[in-house]
Amino acid sequence: MKTPVRVAVTGAAGQIGYSLLFRIASGEMLGKDQPVVLQMLELPLEKAQAALKGVMMELEDCAFPLLAGMVGTDDPEVAFKDADIALLVGARPRGPGMERKDLLLENAKIFTAQGAALNKVAKRDVKVLVVGNPANTNAYIAMKSAPDLPAKNFTAMLRLDHNRALSQLAAKAGVAVGDIEKMVVWGNHSPTMYPDYRFATVNGESLKDKINDAEWNANVFIPTVGKRGAAIIEARGLSSAASAANAAIDHIRDWVLGTNGKWVTMGVPSDGSYGIPEGIIYGVPVTCENGEYTRVQGLEIDAFSRERMDKTLAELEEERAGVAHLLG
Ligand code: NAI
Repeated sequence: MKTPVRVAVTGAAGQIGYSLLFRIASGEMLGKDQPVVLQMLELPLEKAQAALKGVMMELEDCAFPLLAGMVGTDDPEVAFKDADIALLVGARPRGPGMERKDLLLENAKIFTAQGAALNKVAKRDVKVLVVGNPANTNAYIAMKSAPDLPAKNFTAMLRLDHNRALSQLAAKAGVAVGDIEKMVVWGNHSPTMYPDYRFATVNGESLKDKINDAEWNANVFIPTVGKRGAAIIEARGLSSAASAANAAIDHIRDWVLGTNGKWVTMGVPSDGSYGIPEGIIYGVPVTCENGEYTRVQGLEIDAFSRERMDKTLAELEEERAGVAHLLG
């Protein structure tokens, strides 16, 4: 039997946690032959800890053969101890009357502390995925708070946006979602993101040529993908949870097990390419192999794309400036 992989999940008793943990324990993320230990973090509130206990009871009741152990805690250093993978889902939601700036600062406190805890106790090659919003900037804060860990270990989730874009494109072009390749979502996980199918192919043919509708791209596709989160809240009365958990599983599975040459979108610290300043956590196309991601380089950026990529970058730079004083 393989050595169990230690997977830390924060916000484990929340909506996404409830859609995520059972799928990790059943082997959907790391493979049907890979045992896992779940290390779950929740707030030190009676209600949160009781809810976490309930989730752990249900995990027990599934009798998952691959679930080799469980830890439930309110201490990040316990949750992240020797973690191979850390899914940072828990975050402070926007409360009534709360400004975006306040939200950023409240989350900065959480991700500074969690970055420091990862720095102290996680495996040195821990793979970190930040889901909790604002995901890119939270990932940036955690990365900056973990100076002893390689920066490349810190990623933010753009995969839900990527998957949303694929489904919109498949419906528009009348093709199977699984046949679309080379789709990209650039930038921030926010309505400024830029979903870009200029390079996309379907069964080897250009999807852009097949769709051939610039008006639809600018006025329907890009805003639909960008505002999909709000549309889900409007329809469901709650934010996306199952699709977010699904995207988190896709992100980690591809990172760990590889993409076989396929492009996927990950928010990763920039290496300076595509005019994105180094260190900013920005959605880019990557391929994954042997547990490492590699950016797809050298794509041509036209004027329309440059403008959108700069707009989402400006938002990320503004967020970074808003938390700079906390990061030394
Ligand atoms: P939720 O409110 O149902 O659950 C969050 C859980 O995190 C709660 O149980 C809460 O007690 C816990 N929590 C809060 N602060 C914590 C901390 N410091 N340490 C440990 N646990 C903590 O929220 P939900 O729906 O599960 O969403 C979680 C986050 O994911 C939100 O920030 C949401 O905006 C974000 N999200 C991101 C997406 C993306 O594509 N990047 C997509 C959908 C949601």
